[in-house]
Amino acid sequence: MTSTIAVIGTGYVGLTTGACFAHLGHCVICADIVPEKIDQLQRGEIPIHEARLEELVRVGLDSGNLTFVLGAENAVAEAEFVYLCVPTPQSADGSADLSYLQAAASEISAKLRPGTIVVNKSTVPVGSTLLVEQALGRSDIPVVSNPEFLREGTAVDDFLNPDRVVIGADDHAAAGRVASLHLGVRAPIMVTDPASAETCKYAANAFLATKLSFTNAIAAVCEAVGADVNDVLLGMGYDHRIGHEFLRPGPGWGGSCFPKDSKAIITIAEDAGYDFSLMRGVVAVNEEQFDRIVGKVESVIDVDGTTVSVLGIAFKANTDDTRESPALEVMKRLVAKGAKVKAYDPAVTSVELDGVEVVGDAYSACEGASAIVIATEWDDFKWLDFDRIADVVTARNVVDARNLLDRGALRRRGFTYQGVGRN
Ligand code: UDX
Repeated sequence: MTSTIAVIGTGYVGLTTGACFAHLGHCVICADIVPEKIDQLQRGEIPIHEARLEELVRVGLDSGNLTFVLGAENAVAEAEFVYLCVPTPQSADGSADLSYLQAAASEISAKLRPGTIVVNKSTVPVGSTLLVEQALGRSDIPVVSNPEFLREGTAVDDFLNPDRVVIGADDHAAAGRVASLHLGVRAPIMVTDPASAETCKYAANAFLATKLSFTNAIAAVCEAVGADVNDVLLGMGYDHRIGHEFLRPGPGWGGSCFPKDSKAIITIAEDAGYDFSLMRGVVAVNEEQFDRIVGKVESVIDVDGTTVSVLGIAFKANTDDTRESPALEVMKRLVAKGAKVKAYDPAVTSVELDGVEVVGDAYSACEGASAIVIATEWDDFKWLDFDRIADVVTARNVVDARNLLDRGALRRRGFTYQGVGRN
């Protein structure tokens, strides 16, 4: 069954949602407020790294299933569904800023046909469905929560082959209509109330961040007791209740979601009367992890006045997104201790950070360096020629914050090697 869907916001979530719904056969109109962005998208040019997204947009444009317009009010007139995919950035106090969501709802309200269903896709605090209903001011427009569980870099696959679809609605007919949009998706579709759907999204991200902070804390324990974290985590992961996924130690977790959502759920809980001390600990361990990586550098060189090479700037491999990147947290700390940082990333060509020079290749980044930090798990870094690097560094020290490299091979070439959770 083909439906007409308007998608408000063409960022990571909105563009993926629009292109995938068009791929599923629906008629989709995406709207944004930035004219240049609409022009770019209408030409089929995709400003973000997402596997398959460019192909889906191209097919959608060619088939007429997908169009882009300027301004939300120009997208909704014929829509049966309006997906709100606008940013919900973090406010200074840690809470989610819902001003974009409210503005979008107010802007479209008068243009909506009776019975149109408005769907919250953005990650929003518990109670936001009510807030959107108030902003719309229309009793004939049901509002439904349909949170996204998309990972950057694999968002298209995560949308078309999700582990589950979560729909939160008090109006079960509206929930059924939103569920029907996903008929081409083979995954469990669960219907609950809006508060539970909104909480599920935050809880899932908070749990994943908790799993990562636990992994990094166990890595620190391994270093202290002389165990190898890779074997410890492998032994843990065989337990089906734990699993092997999301158990890779690193420099800490980052990105546009985990840091924002972790702080938001702490604020949401506190505002509702619960002290989410566990989650505060998860965030604190993550901050400590940035310091631990810098501490490893300081254990082999006097950072002040030296050059340190940081390989990897993006918050994870296969994306160019540097928002809340752990690599940047490590660089900030190194510069604050007097280091000059030379950075390289296959997908990132510049950063606005005093004391950091971004260069065009890994070897240039290593020239004159007294230590090298592997901060992002790009495959490119696995195959670096360390015989060549040995000739250009000032001192042979590697801090492998992603346990990416061959420890023995580096040590045989005269490098000190420090991983995470490995001695
Ligand atoms: C995350 C959630 O996975 C996704 O479900 C949600 O919808 C949005 O937030 P994303 O932010 O794209 O997705 O990144 P993710 O792949 O989860 O990685 C987050 C951070 O954790 C990155 O910095 C990554 O390097 C780090 N990470 C991830 C680890 O350090 N170890 C791991 O094993 C996995």
